[in-house]
This record gives sequence, C-alpha cells and structure tokens, in this order.
Amino acid sequence: MSQPTIESILQEKRLFQPPAEFSQNAHIKSLDEYQQLYDKAKANPEQFWAELAEKELHWFQKWDTVLDWQPPFAKWFVGGKINISYNCLDRHLTTWRRNKAALIWEGEPGDSRTLTYAQLHREVCQFANVLKQLGVQKGDRVGIYMPMIPEAAIAMLACARIGAPHTVVFGGFSAEALRDRLIDGEAKLVITADGGWRKDAIVALKDEVDKALDNDAVPTIENVLVVKRTSQNIHMEPGRDHWWHDLQQGVSADCPAEPMDSEDMLFILYTSGSTGKPKGVVHTTGGYNLYTHITLKWAFDLQDTDVYWCTADVGWITGHSYIVYGPLSNGATTLMYEGAPRASNPGALWEVVEKYGVNIFYTAPTAIRAFIKMGEHHPKARNLSSLRLLGTVGEPINPEAWMWYYRVIGGGRCPVVDTWWQTETGGFMITPLPGAIPTKPGSATFPFPGILTDIVDLEGNSVEDNQGGYLVVKHPWPGMMRTVYGDPDRFRRTYWEHIQPKDGQYLYFAGDGARKDEDGYFWVMGRVDDVINVAGHRLGTMEIESALVSHPAVAEAAVVGTPDELKGEDVFAFVTLESDYEASDELEKELKAHVVKEIGAIARPGRIRFTDGMPKTRSGKIMRRLLRNLASGQEVVGDTSTLEDRSVLDKLRGGA
Ligand code: PRX
Repeated sequence: MSQPTIESILQEKRLFQPPAEFSQNAHIKSLDEYQQLYDKAKANPEQFWAELAEKELHWFQKWDTVLDWQPPFAKWFVGGKINISYNCLDRHLTTWRRNKAALIWEGEPGDSRTLTYAQLHREVCQFANVLKQLGVQKGDRVGIYMPMIPEAAIAMLACARIGAPHTVVFGGFSAEALRDRLIDGEAKLVITADGGWRKDAIVALKDEVDKALDNDAVPTIENVLVVKRTSQNIHMEPGRDHWWHDLQQGVSADCPAEPMDSEDMLFILYTSGSTGKPKGVVHTTGGYNLYTHITLKWAFDLQDTDVYWCTADVGWITGHSYIVYGPLSNGATTLMYEGAPRASNPGALWEVVEKYGVNIFYTAPTAIRAFIKMGEHHPKARNLSSLRLLGTVGEPINPEAWMWYYRVIGGGRCPVVDTWWQTETGGFMITPLPGAIPTKPGSATFPFPGILTDIVDLEGNSVEDNQGGYLVVKHPWPGMMRTVYGDPDRFRRTYWEHIQPKDGQYLYFAGDGARKDEDGYFWVMGRVDDVINVAGHRLGTMEIESALVSHPAVAEAAVVGTPDELKGEDVFAFVTLESDYEASDELEKELKAHVVKEIGAIARPGRIRFTDGMPKTRSGKIMRRLLRNLASGQEVVGDTSTLEDRSVLDKLRGGA
C-alpha cells in the first residue's frame, strides 16, 4: 500500500456525515456552528483567541496585549502570567477531578500504574523541588531522554512548574544525536532511566547518556538523574549521577507553580529540516497552553468521561501536545503506553483498549498499515465497543487505510479525525471537528477556527481548486513556534522566505504540498522539500548524508525517500567510495550501522547503492529527482539535458 497519488485522491468521492448522536453531544455540533466560529475568528482573530484564553485557562495575571506581531515574530498574551503545570494540575484539584485518573500507564512487561490528579500533582511538586535542590533555576534548560514511563511526564511538568524549559530527546536517538541536542540547548541537567523497553528488548538509555557526556562533551551538564526502570547494571558517575528515587525521598510536596510570562520559553524540541543540523523549535507558555488545550477539546471532542489514548512517544511533538499538555490541561484521563505494535504480540494494543475501555484512540498511518498487515482477526478478538473517535497523524493517510481504520477498529461508528500539523505548529492546524464536519477518506478536511490556510504558488497567489501548490498559513496563531533556538535568522529563512508575495506579506510555509478540492477540503500530499517521512518520523536527507560522509570509506552520499508499503517512505542512499575502499555487502552493513550510531535506528537506510559517480548538473548540484526515480525503480523522467556527465546516469540505470 503506497502513499496516495493525485489520481487516487481526485477519484475519492466518499463522504461520511458525523453520526447524529455524536453531533448532539459534541462541543461543536454542526457545520453551521463550525462555519460561524470560523468566520468569527477570521473577522477578529485576536478577539477570538482572547475570549478562549479567558474562558479556558487560569491566569495569575491577565495579558495587556493579545498579539504583538512583528513579522515573522509573534508574541501572544503579552504581559500575561500563567503556568501550564498549574493549568494541567492544580486547578483540577479543587474540583471533583481531584481523584480522577489523570495518567494511566500501561507498561512492559505487564506493569501498570494509575495516577490521579492529586497523586500526579504531588509527584510533580516533589520532583520540581528535587530539581531546585540540584540548582535548576527558572530559564535553565533540562534534557529529558526517557522511555515511555510516567516519570517522563512528571519530569516535563516539573520543569514547566519551575520555569526550566525542557528539551525532550526521543529515546530512539543515539548518543551522538543526544549530544548534539544537549550541546545546542546548553542543558544543565539530563533526566534519563537505566533502560527502557522497546518492542521486546531493553534499550540501554543510561549507557547512551554516558557516551553522549563522555570527555565532558557537554560542558554545561552538571547532574544526571536516573529512574530505575529495567534494573540492569549501569555506571553511576560519582558526584554527577543520582537515582531519582533516592533524591525524591522525603522531599516536600509543596512547590507552588512559578508565575511565568506568557512568552517565557516552555520547551525546545529538535526537528529535521532540509538543511543543516536539526533545529531547536521553541514553544512558549501561554499561547501553546491555549492552543493544545482547545484543539484537543474540539477536534477530539474530549469529554470528562473519556479515556484518551495517543500512541505517540513523548519524544515527539505529538507526545508533548497530546499525551501530556493538551489532555491534562483539559482534566482528561490520558493513557501512556510503553509498548509498540509488533509481530510478537499483534493484539497488544487492542487488549489495552479493552482493558481500560479506551474511548478516543490516536495513532499514525504507518501503525494502521502494520495493523492491516497483521490481520483484522486481532482487533476483532477484542471488545472495542468503547471507542467513539479515531485520530490519525504523521503522514498522508491513504484512503484504503482510512477505510480499514474506520470499518475494523471503529466498527463503522467512530468519526476518523485526520489531523494535519507539525512540530512547528504546536497543535492541529487542519482537522475535522468530528460532530460538525463530514469527512472524506484521505483528507484532513478544513482548517481549525482561527487558522487561515491556503494553497499558493511561489508568489503567494492562491491556486485554482484541485491544483497542487504550497500549503501556507496566513495569520499567526497562538501555538506557533516562536523561533529556532539561538538562531532567529534561521527561523526567518526556513519558514518565511520560500513564498514571496509581491505585497511583502509574510506567509508561513513549512514544507508541505497540498491541494484543495471543489468543496474546500484540504488534501495534504506530503513534503516538497528534502525531508522524508519514515514511519511517521521526520528525517532530513542531509542529516543522513552527513552521517554517511562521516565514515572514512564514504566520499559522497545522496539520500532520497522511496515508497514503502509499511513505513510510507524508506531511506535509500547512493554512495560513492573513497578510492581505497571497495563496495561489498560487509561495507553496506557497516555503513548502515554507522548511520544508526550517528542518528539512531529510525534513520537506518533500507538500501545503499554504491556508485562511481552522482548525476550532477554542470554547476555541481546532485540531481535528486533522477535519483528518486532510480531508487523507486521508475523510468527517469523529465529533463536530463543539464546533466554534466550522462554516462553516470547510464551506468546507474544499467545496474539498477
Ligand atoms: O509532512 C507533514 C506530515 O508530517 C510533517 C510534520 O512532521 P512532524 O513535525 O514530525 O510532526 C508530526 C506530528 C504532528 C508535516 O509537515 N504530516 C503530519 N500530519 C499529517 C501529515 N501529512 C499528511 N496528513 C497528516 N495528517
């Protein structure tokens, strides 16, 4: 099953109305209501967001200015004082939610734990005091490199509570990748675990931290905190490393949330782009809190009785916004799962749905394709009748996968909510509101109220219906990233300069191509830059190329994405070798392992093709379009007249 094509999308005419019963009880009940909200927000975005901020969140002090927009730099709720950990915890304690399950954790192998709001609050306060005792102060950055355990959420909330921005690094990244991020973020402390479960094995997280910090490679780090999770032997560096449980003992649970400026940094999260090293995407407090709160509430129609489960990892934006902050700010019950869909236990996820009576389930198309492959008898063996809404995110969902999800998992009764967004956007941008908007399989439907999206050409002119173009956002929104950490120029260049309207207007563009159909539905086609999406993980081709070139055997590398039935895309690397090296199966293996070491297993090339030369233009630019064609076994199409040396292409074709 491959990515949707323009043809398949144009043929997609199915329309699914929101079920009447669902609409009756939904936060947003009809298309009319959505349209009114949308129009109101468009007419006066500041008033729209200000009303919501007032109604939905607790502020220690109200803002003076709703939006300060100095393109491309936005500030929201300027002068307001707020703390997201207060909004996620304290404010629920004076209501009936005090003893409601805040976090349900289903661990491996067979562990589980439930924390009520009161319990989670207590743990967060204690841990915040631990951080303070270690000298962490407001503004200090804290690295978090954790498995999917409650302590990951506790650590994030504790950082937010004392105003120390966190930078969570996905536990699947290697020591090298972790080191780069800790250095860039100038982290003062790292929180990790001895190990974590990934599929059926233990990942030695602490060993990776040791490697990352080896030889004082990250000089800003003063302390490492370690959660005991898997209990294998690990090295504890005297004076630097401490067990979480030792330090937490006897610590006071009294730690009032620090009133933060609305625009104080909440976190940095690194993400790949088409150039350079991963960028530190900066999100701030007030706008992000409001945006994740309201998007989750309306797009997933979150109700107080729901058990909500997002299968992402906290190391990605989906985990930040929609496992931790969005759900807890709403006072919801959020489920965190340490496992992953896998061949050795194909029914595991459905067991969890049945065990906890999950109502809202949010996952990625790559997982859905894996479920399809494992067979529908697994979900059918479980009682999934508690489900009432299904979400998807991460890549375009092909209509067949959408239909399977709808039919087999949702029993034909649950709206499918396809949410388009990015690390940079903070929260959902284009998404159905499930009680209001009829869905079409493969379309994320309409923009969220307050979000002005369009499909444009390079000069910012709207293109005709059903014509492909660049997906842009025309007005700032509260959840938008504020800058690239330490590099505001890069922020401007990366997101605001590709599309150049003649009137000088600033349009946000972050790499996706899309089209809008005659009914106004948005169909996201995927990245139009050198970013590839492997199993929902975003990877810059250049990062993988740099990893390859850092191996002594490699002279030059060019990486492209090829269609993959399960992962959506796979990494295909073309490599030319230094003269004293010869191509071999062993070297191919070694290079793959080298990429894993440099970045992590998610970036391991599916295939490496050795070549004597790269197809280049006369000015020396690698013609990736040709490589993409070659890698996916297609005819090389389009103009090849600018090629410097045709024989390179002929050779590559011959041996493909
Ligand atoms: O190409 C789009 C794709 O994922 C990219 C963002 O990746 P990341 O920042 O890692 O965030 C992933 C989770 C929000 C986008 O530029 N993408 C995400 N959701 C969708 C999608 N493509 C199509 N449809 C979606 N629903």
